[in-house]
Amino acid sequence: MTINIKINGTVHTVDADGDTPLLWVLRDVLGMTGTKFGCGAGLCGACTVHLDGQAVRACQTPIDSVGESSITTIEAIGETPQGKALQQSWIDLDVPQCGYCQSGQIMSAAALLAATPKPTDADIDAAMSGNVCRCGTYQRIRAAIHRATA
Ligand code: FES
Repeated sequence: MTINIKINGTVHTVDADGDTPLLWVLRDVLGMTGTKFGCGAGLCGACTVHLDGQAVRACQTPIDSVGESSITTIEAIGETPQGKALQQSWIDLDVPQCGYCQSGQIMSAAALLAATPKPTDADIDAAMSGNVCRCGTYQRIRAAIHRATA
C-alpha cells in the first residue's frame, strides 16, 4: 500500500505493507540509517525516534499507525534546541565508545529535556532506562545530559 509519512518536516510517500515497522522504512526504504537496529524487539532503545515529540521505538511502530503524526529522527534532532545542546555536550564529554546505541540515547535524552528542562539524576535514570549501552557509557550520558541543561 502507499502511505504518506512526515519525517523531519518532509512528507515521504512510501510503498510498504501497513504492518512494516517504521525502522525498516527509515533505514531500508528511505536510507536514513542514523536510526539503528539493535534488538528489533523493543528492548534496547537503539531505534528510538520521536513521534510528535514523544520517544518511541521505531522497531515497534507499524508504519500504518503513524498517520498524520510528525516523526523526528537523529538526522534532524540537532535542529531543536535540546538536540543541538545534547549533541554538543556528547562531543564535549566524548560520550560514545562504540557509538552504536548513541542515536537512540540522544533521542531519548532530547525527549526528556523537552518535557523536563532541568532533570534530576532520578529523572534521567527513569527516562533513559530503556536505552541499553553495551559499552557502559551511562555515567558519561548522565553527565552530558546535565551539561546540556547548563
Ligand atoms: Fe528497537 Fe531494540 S531495535 S528497541
